[in-house]
Amino acid sequence: MIVKDYEIKSNIEIAKNIFELKLIGDFKKNVFQAGKFLHLKCSENIHPLLRRPMSICDIADNETELTILYRVEGAGTQLISEKKPGDFINMLAPLGVAYDLNVKGNEQIFLVGGGIGVPPLYYLAKELKAKGAKIKSFLGFRNKEESFYTKEFAQLGDLVIASVDGSIGHQGFVTDTLTLDFDYLYSCGPTAMFNTLQKIIPEEKNAYITMEERMGCGVGACLACVCKTNPKYFPNKNYLRACKEGPVFKLHELQL
Ligand SMILES: Cc1cc2nc3c(=O)[nH]c(=O)nc-3n(C[C@H](O)[C@H](O)[C@H](O)COP(=O)(O)OP(=O)(O)OC[C@H]3O[C@@H](n4cnc5c(N)ncnc54)[C@H](O)[C@@H]3O)c2cc1C
Ligand code: FES
Repeated sequence: MIVKDYEIKSNIEIAKNIFELKLIGDFKKNVFQAGKFLHLKCSENIHPLLRRPMSICDIADNETELTILYRVEGAGTQLISEKKPGDFINMLAPLGVAYDLNVKGNEQIFLVGGGIGVPPLYYLAKELKAKGAKIKSFLGFRNKEESFYTKEFAQLGDLVIASVDGSIGHQGFVTDTLTLDFDYLYSCGPTAMFNTLQKIIPEEKNAYITMEERMGCGVGACLACVCKTNPKYFPNKNYLRACKEGPVFKLHELQL
């Protein structure tokens, strides 16, 4: 685990309230693995006291550039959005468990992302494609204005887009368009989307969710991020910590 100040290369708004932040550093892919998360300090001051968790969206430029996509929600992300190239941001990382990338090649992978849950799936998609897997992405947004990285995902394989108001792609939820002909499915987004996935995907299928619970410490100590387990899979453990045992879980392991 590394705690370090990283220089900001760029920090630009790419869609309504969605920012792309690029950091300069030494980001070895075998350390900063897809699925793990970063804990960012939002300012030099004591407020906000807690770090903010963010996913790794991409690692590029010979492992010297790390991309984070974030939506401005409140005070912390607002402060991050005000940072300029050349400024520094303190990061505790990488945290949590990574996605299981144990595909042999040629498997059909489905990626299901909702809103600001989309970013970690981009890095995952690139890693899986490099191993020979076939990627089909299902991305859901509130509307066209808030949609992002659609061209980037389209370059990696098939792409289905949905939006609540129909201003981009299929009108409705991204789960409306889902089929079951996948070998592995990875999802990140709102809990309501995971609830639907739990209803439509049989337990024997290889399906994973990425929990973006509110967090405190990020390292397993405060229990702010606990998720209720499904007793069928964890008869002796009622809760798991999203920051330590997660954020990636098997779809049916949790009660949402
Ligand atoms: C493992 C993990 C990965 C994440 N990856 C990303 C990412 O790549 N990009 C991104 O934009 N966000 C991501 N998030 C969510 C992000 O951490 C929160 O949006 C952020 O902490 C909000 O901080 P804030 O100070 O701006 O807002 P706050 O003032 O803390 O909150 C503002 C509003 O946002 C809501 N909120 C805060 N945290 C969360 C959360 N975790 N989930 C849902 N709602 C929340 C609050 O309930 C409140 O309504 C991730 C969260 C986790 C746990
Ligand atoms: S955030 Fe503290 S235990 Fe998970």
